[in-house]
Amino acid sequence: MPSLQGKRALVTGAASGIGLASAEALIAAGAAVVGLDRQSPHGQAFPAVIADLRDEAAVVAAVAEAVRLMDGLDILVNVAGVMQEARLEDVTAEHIALHFDVNVRGTIFATREALKVMGEGARIINFASELAALGRQNASVYVATKAAIVGLTRSWARELAPRGILVNAVAPGPTDTPLLAFDAMTDEQKALELTQPLGRLGRPSEIADAVVFLAGPGATFITGHTLAVNGGAAMT
Ligand code: NAI
Repeated sequence: MPSLQGKRALVTGAASGIGLASAEALIAAGAAVVGLDRQSPHGQAFPAVIADLRDEAAVVAAVAEAVRLMDGLDILVNVAGVMQEARLEDVTAEHIALHFDVNVRGTIFATREALKVMGEGARIINFASELAALGRQNASVYVATKAAIVGLTRSWARELAPRGILVNAVAPGPTDTPLLAFDAMTDEQKALELTQPLGRLGRPSEIADAVVFLAGPGATFITGHTLAVNGGAAMT
């Protein structure tokens, strides 16, 4: 029997990249999936609710709609995120607000709403980045949001343990998605992305495999952990 048979999952950022791959992998593992994104779906084989994660009321309504569609919720995967480069000299209030509103506040709102219906055995999987540990020039605000996700993950793991809800994060390395936009990089930027032992970009499906693991029956004693899926770059 597929490992996630009978489980119901909500995946944010499911219209693109790692979110789309995660939704597909969860379905392949037997779960029912609803996607949440600000974009309309592009023909994917699962229902989607449209919401901008910066809009608290829209997130409240979208999570409720997803719960209604699936008659409950067992797995929340907070994948949606934005990343724009900016040198510190060029950082603006808008740049800070965009990153924190989507990557941090959006994750908090979606999780808060999901918890209204989640029970014993539920899983929450957040999206950090290896850059939270490594740091990155010209992306400090983005990196700060991902460090925040690591802290939220550790804290929620403690807070929700009494309810039997496990909370972990995935920290991808450079992954071939529109967010990374590898093809548009300079040679210098490309080289910076490929310094890890495996020396290549990750595929979205390889990140999704970690999501399925953390959502599944093989991860019942793991909580508060941030799992690097990054081709071997050391994160300590
Ligand atoms: P992507 O750009 O391909 O997909 C992100 C999705 O989030 C898009 O579908 C987008 O519409 C959605 N989204 C953005 N803002 C939103 C908002 N305000 N409301 C609702 N949905 C919104 O990005 P990718 O690469 O799949 O990234 C997924 C996650 O993985 C992000 O949290 C990112 O920070 C993280 N990550 C990605 C890495 C990479 O190299 N691609 C490396 C490390 C972490």
